[in-house]
Amino acid sequence: MSDSTVYLSEWMSLMRSGMSRPRTDTLQHCSPVTGSNRGIGFDLVKAFSADSNNIVIAGVRDPASATALQELSKTAKAKIHIANIDAADEEGNRAAAKEIEQTFGRVDVLWANAGGSP
Ligand SMILES: NC(=O)c1ccc[n+]([C@@H]2O[C@H](COP(=O)([O-])OP(=O)(O)OC[C@H]3O[C@@H](n4cnc5c(N)ncnc54)[C@H](OP(=O)(O)O)[C@@H]3O)[C@@H](O)[C@H]2O)c1
Repeated sequence: MSDSTVYLSEWMSLMRSGMSRPRTDTLQHCSPVTGSNRGIGFDLVKAFSADSNNIVIAGVRDPASATALQELSKTAKAKIHIANIDAADEEGNRAAAKEIEQTFGRVDVLWANAGGSP
């Protein structure tokens, strides 16, 4: 199995466990977005955070310099959790998946967006 398969299988297993668990909340959706510092990832966070039912996890390489996300989080309807998720760091991804599971109990949609423009 390649490194990227291991990394994705970690997230997939978290999503499966969340889906098989009965919902205890109303309609909250937990949607981590990787690579959300700018570009499409940032726009995804902006779109999801307009709905107060959503739990938005904005994955970035450097939360301290994610100024656009910090500004957005001041006015967004949903809470935006700016998280240190480097998509190239396998161990970091495992830790992030575990922390999200422990904090929110589920992942409904994972936006594996991190990368460069073609
Ligand atoms: N734009 C298109 O036409 C197009 C077409 C097909 C597919 N895509 C795909 O869609 C995704 C987003 O595209 P985009 O146009 O929004 O790209 P973009 O404007 O270049 O933004 C890419 C984002 O990904 C982040 N990133 C890169 N590597 C990362 C890593 N290892 N860990 C965490 N974050 C990382 C960057 O972080 P920093 O800000 O820290 O650099 C940046 O915030 C990419 O995967 C791209 O391949 C785009």
